[in-house]
Order: sequence, then C-alpha cells, then structure tokens
Amino acid sequence: MSDPLVSANGIDVAYGDLQVLWDVSVEITDEDRVVALVGPNGAGKTTLLKALSGLRPLAGGSIELFGADAAALRPDQIVERGFVHVPEARNLFTEMTVEENLEMGAYTKRAEQAATMAEVFELFPVLDERRTQRAGTLSGGEQQMLAIGRGLMAKPDVLALDELSVGLAPQFVDRVFEKVAAISEDITVLLTEQHVHEALELADRGYVLENGRIVAEDDADALLESDRVQDAYLSG
Ligand SMILES: Nc1ncnc2c1ncn2[C@@H]1O[C@H](COP(=O)(O)OP(=O)(O)O)[C@@H](O)[C@H]1O
Ligand SMILES: [Mg+2]
Repeated sequence: MSDPLVSANGIDVAYGDLQVLWDVSVEITDEDRVVALVGPNGAGKTTLLKALSGLRPLAGGSIELFGADAAALRPDQIVERGFVHVPEARNLFTEMTVEENLEMGAYTKRAEQAATMAEVFELFPVLDERRTQRAGTLSGGEQQMLAIGRGLMAKPDVLALDELSVGLAPQFVDRVFEKVAAISEDITVLLTEQHVHEALELADRGYVLENGRIVAEDDADALLESDRVQDAYLSG
C-alpha cells in the first residue's frame, strides 16, 4: 500500500454550535484516479472539502496532506503543496477574461504558468477560442470548464471538484465528466456529486456521506451494486 496523499482521520467539523461532520475518515492514495464522495444535499460533502482545503477548522480528528499535518498549513500552503479545491460556486472573476482567470489560478506556480496554460487550452479548446472573452459571458458549461482550468493552473496532485454537474444541461454533464476522465490520467480527482450513478461509474472508489457520517465506502463498482446506493439513490 502506498502512503496516502490525503487522509482525514476521524474529523469533526461544526458551524458554531451545529456539528455537521462526525468522525469522518477518508483516504486518497496515488493509486486512486477518481474517488467519489456521494450523498444527498446537506450531507456535508462541501464541508469536508472545505476542511481538507483549510477553509474550516476541525473540532476533532486530524488531516494529513502529503505527509504533513494540515493544521499547521494555511489554505494557500495547502494549494501550493498540491491539494486544489474547485468550489461549487466556481467563484470566477466574471469581469476578467478567460486568460486572466487562468492567470489567477497560477498564483502558487508562476514559473510554470505559460506551459500550464497551454496544457489547459489543449484540454479545453473552447477556452482557447475564448481566451479574451469575459468569464461572466461564458455559458454555464464553459464557466465550469474555466473553473476546472483555473484549478489545474495550480498544478495539483489532488484536484477536488465540488458538484461539477450542478446547473448544467445533461449534454454538458457528459462533456465535463469526459474531461474529468482525461484529467484523472495524470492527477488524482476527488469528486462530490449528487449524480450518484455517473460519479460512481467514473470513480474507482467511493464514499457515501449521509447526515455528516460516512455510511459506506468501497470500490465504486461494488457501491453501485450495493443495496444502500441502489435503494437510496438509483431506484426509480
Ligand atoms: N456556513 C454555514 N453555516 C452554517 N451551517 C452551514 C454552513 N454551510 C453549511 N452548513 C450546514 O452544514 C450541513 C452540510 O452542508 P454541506 O457541507 O454544504 O452539504 P453538501 O455539500 O453535502 O450539500 C448542512 O446542514 C448545511 O446547512
Ligand atoms: Mg455541497
């Protein structure tokens, strides 16, 4: 077994008095290509990604990132070490161009900016065509690709993608998932999704989070076939 790239070890997270994650343990190794974190709205998926990114403090447990205790790291240091989180809200700079948004993503890896941008444009030709267009004028699918591209500019070892498919038309969902498959050839991807079937088809491994607790973890194929996932997410 290889050393984990990322591990959350029994973490608790609260917003004020409201505890929303309970004893959550998740491990990602460099043998993983795509790990899916699935569960209903409000389960705590985004909160877990925020904790891993250093954006939410822990009320209990610990997080290790690339061999270091994450408690000692600032969010920008977590990015620099290689854990990059593309947030659900995308947080694009809508008045800035595609190219400028990508430049912002490279703030920890300036020296490699031009080469990385060329790779991003190769992966997303639509962004290359629109490099001088303002981000706010892109379609939803294009904005999602830009958000992913901006994440890639930080040259992550682990790319966490929160609810990629939210608000996208079905044909865009397929296209974005195809891009994720391509990215995962080089970079380990941690994916949260409410499209449980699609996410588990893409993933090698998955975790099911319900009410702030991990209730199942397994190979993605096994999870897809499991009664828990079939009954809760895939019936009807
Ligand atoms: N900023 C916040 N303040 C208070 N409660 C929050 C905040 N963000 C999320 N929550 C609560 O935490 C729980 C988990 O939310 P979240 O992590 O966004 O779930 P998911 O991403 O799985 O939909 C929910 O009950 C949500 O209402
Ligand atoms: Mg969420």
